[in-house]
Amino acid sequence: MSELVNKIPEHVAIIMDGNGRWAESRGLPRLEGHRAGTENLRQIIRASVEFGVKYLTIYAFSTENWGRPKDEVNGLITILETVIDRELNELNAEGVRICHLGRLEAMPAKVRKKVEYSMHITQNNDQLILNVAWNYGGRDEIVHAIQKIIQASVPAEQVTEALVSKNLFTQGSPDPDLIIRTSGEMRVSNFLIWQSAYSEWYVTPTLWPDFNKEEYKKAIDAYGHRKRRFGKLDQ
Ligand code: FPP
Repeated sequence: MSELVNKIPEHVAIIMDGNGRWAESRGLPRLEGHRAGTENLRQIIRASVEFGVKYLTIYAFSTENWGRPKDEVNGLITILETVIDRELNELNAEGVRICHLGRLEAMPAKVRKKVEYSMHITQNNDQLILNVAWNYGGRDEIVHAIQKIIQASVPAEQVTEALVSKNLFTQGSPDPDLIIRTSGEMRVSNFLIWQSAYSEWYVTPTLWPDFNKEEYKKAIDAYGHRKRRFGKLDQ
């Protein structure tokens, strides 16, 4: 039973921002910030299970992140590989199902295989669905969905919101109830732009590597006090 009394979001999505600033403020290379951010993810995944969150979506690498310096891009790819090697068995044992959002085909073959393997061996888990957005862009996701719909020769009048949702990378996950962005930036950054139509946002100045379980609880508590009307009036 969770220690929280307020309502718990079923699906939390996080823009894990501020790794670079965290490192720079300590005189460290930016990659050290990404490593610290990755370490931090452990406690947030575990806290999600403890709080009763069923879906956790994390923005790990955007389609725009390829434009960063080569060292940083390669470092982030290595981090992803290392995390899978190091954490997969434990996550599997804890009942976490790993799903990938984005274009897998653009990833180096070795990493792609590891991601596919991690999805395969965790496919029957249901404690927490962990959606890892890697090589993900919200606009790209919508283009991809339109391509799939056209390829399936769907008549125009049969294109509905439900059909578009079904063709997104997030197919199978409900829309996020709560989106958290760390480091204080007030931007959507091409993240879940279709799915976030009625999500609640929580922005904190805390940098991602410092966003601990207590900070997470504050975000969940804030969500618990929100009134969601989905464009309608209070009942
Ligand atoms: C944004 O901080 C963060 C990223 C672009 C990468 C986030 C990735 C991780 C935490 C790696 C872990 C993920 C997995 C699945 C292994 P920033 O670099 O834009 O920070 P800044 O705005 O302070 O420069």
